[in-house]
Amino acid sequence: EKAGFDHFMLKEIHEQPRAYRDTMGSRISADGTQVTLNELTTLTPEAIREINRVHIVACGTAYHAGMVGKYIIEKMARIPVEIDVASEYRYRSPIITKDTLVIVVSQSGETADTLAALREAKRCGAHVLAITNVVGSSVAREADDMIVTLAGPEIAVASTKAYTSQLVAFYLFGLHLAQTLGTQTAAEIAETLAALKALPEQVEAILEQAEAIKGVAEEMAKHDNLFFIGRGLDYAVALEGSLKLKEISYIHSEAYAAGELKHGTLALIEEGVPVIALATQHELLEKTVSNIKEVKARGANVLGIAVEGELELQKSVDSTFVIPKTLDVLAPALSVVPLQLLSYYASLARGNDVDKPRNLAKSVTVE
Ligand code: M6R
Repeated sequence: EKAGFDHFMLKEIHEQPRAYRDTMGSRISADGTQVTLNELTTLTPEAIREINRVHIVACGTAYHAGMVGKYIIEKMARIPVEIDVASEYRYRSPIITKDTLVIVVSQSGETADTLAALREAKRCGAHVLAITNVVGSSVAREADDMIVTLAGPEIAVASTKAYTSQLVAFYLFGLHLAQTLGTQTAAEIAETLAALKALPEQVEAILEQAEAIKGVAEEMAKHDNLFFIGRGLDYAVALEGSLKLKEISYIHSEAYAAGELKHGTLALIEEGVPVIALATQHELLEKTVSNIKEVKARGANVLGIAVEGELELQKSVDSTFVIPKTLDVLAPALSVVPLQLLSYYASLARGNDVDKPRNLAKSVTVE
C-alpha cells in the first residue's frame, strides 16, 4: 500500500506531480487560455461581482496554503482578503456580510474548528466556498460551493500533497476570479496557465535531487534549533517548512519574515545555527540577500532555496538548493517540496515515527 516507499509521507511527496495534474485536469481548457470551474453552482459570475471581501479560514498546513491563497486572490482579483486560523476567527466577531466570501480550507473536511468557523460564517449570511480533499466530508456538505483537490487519500499525519493541491486550487480560483472580473488580461491568464501546466514536471525534477536534500537533513538533524526566513510568498512557505519540521522531526524551528529578524530574533542567531533562507521572489531578492548577510555575520550556516540562475544569491549563502524557473507567484508550489523532503529525512535521521508523530492526529475533531 506504500507502493514501494518506506513511509506514506515519502509516497505522498512523490505523488505530487500526479496530484497537480489531476487537480488541474479538465479545469484548464484544451487551448490553455481559460479556467473552467464548472463545480461552482451558487458562485455565479453575478455573485462573484458582488463580493467585496474574502476571508480565508483554516488550521495548520491548510492555513499556510490559505496564506498563499490570500496573496493570489489579492494579486489576481484585487479583492481584499483577510486570513485567520479557524480557532481565532470565530471568537473575534469577524465582520461578515452577505457580500463576504468565506473560503474554508481543509484536507479532511472534518476539522472541528474549521467546521465551526464555516457554520458561523453561514449564520452571518456569507457565501462559503470549501477547498477540500474529501468530497463527502462535513465541510464539503455544509459549504455553498466547493473545489475538490484531487490529491487522493492522504495517510501521513504531515500534510504534503494536500497542501500543494490546495495551492493549485487557489491558483485556479484566483484565475477564475480574474477572468470573471477582468482584472487580468487574457495574455496574463494564459501565461500563468502555461506555467501551472509546467509544474508537475518541475516537481519531478526536484524529486530527482532528493539525495542532496537527504545529506543536508542529516546534518540539520544534529541541531536543536533552526530558522526559516523569507519575504512575501517565501514567508508563507517558510511557515509551512517550519511546521513540517517541528511536527515530524521534533526539532525546534521558527519561521520569520526576513525583514523582521532584526526586531528581536536575531539575538538567537549564533555560530553554526542553521538558517534556511527562501529567496524565490525576484522583486524582494535584494532585500532578502541583505537579511542573509545579517545572519551570516552572526555565524549562521545558511541554506538558500533559490530559483535556477540566481548566481548572486548563491554567492551569499553556504549552500543552495535550486528549483526550476517559474513565475514568482507559482514558486511556493515548487519551493515547499525540498522543505518536505528536508523534514522527512531529518525525522528519519532522528529515528522518529515519520507517519505518526507523537501527540498528533491526522484529523483534529475536537475544538
Ligand atoms: O484536515 P485539515 O486540512 O483541516 O487539517 C488541518 C491541520 O490539522 C493539518 O493541516 C495539520 O496542521 C497537519 N498535520 C500539518 O502537516
